[in-house]
Amino acid sequence: MKPNKYLFKLSIFFIAIGTVLLSQPEFKNLQVLNKNISKDDLKATMNNFADYLDVKCSFCHILDEYHKDDKEHKQVARKMIQLTRMVRKDGKKYFSKDYKTEEFTCFTCHNGSAEIKPYNPDDEDWP
Ligand code: HEC
Ligand code: HEC
Repeated sequence: MKPNKYLFKLSIFFIAIGTVLLSQPEFKNLQVLNKNISKDDLKATMNNFADYLDVKCSFCHILDEYHKDDKEHKQVARKMIQLTRMVRKDGKKYFSKDYKTEEFTCFTCHNGSAEIKPYNPDDEDWP
């Protein structure tokens, strides 16, 4: 093989490897969110969760090991994402036609609190 031909094949090889590596999804363990979500969108989604529930990332995650499922709260949150989606999808059935179903979020129920208080008429702190 002539050297320049060899170099050509070698560079094709590296381009192929690079393409495979770059097309790997960014995140390791997404089971309900879009596996190919961009870094920015994932970040915005997570910041929203923290705001809607008024908690830190560590409420659901072991810091810097975000792919792990060791925390119960993370697993509950997965079901909650599905619940929120389900209500949004069928929103037109339940809400007035002017209601924008995309405005239905974790905050609609949680209102800045992770633990939802059941309604209790005797509790003066009930919101
Ligand atoms: C209310 C719980 C909750 C909070 C708070 C939360 N997350 Fe998450 N996070 C999740 C869930 C659930 C998933 C997995 C979603 C899925 O399976 O599709 C996830 C996934 C992730 C992932 C992807 C990990 C991987 O490789 O699979 C990262 C990174 C992450 N969160 C970062 C953060 C950061 C940073 C914060 C704080 C700003 C945060 N999260 C706050 C619930 C939460
Ligand atoms: C329709 C109302 C509703 C919506 C919307 C909702 N939740 Fe919840 N959530 C609840 C209720 C009710 C509980 C308590 C359930 C229980 O005890 O089993 C709860 C519990 C939780 C818990 C467990 C808290 C704890 O202290 O153990 C987490 C975490 C959570 N929700 C996250 C979320 C996230 C994240 C979203 C948005 C993706 C969301 N929720 C949307 C009603 C809702």
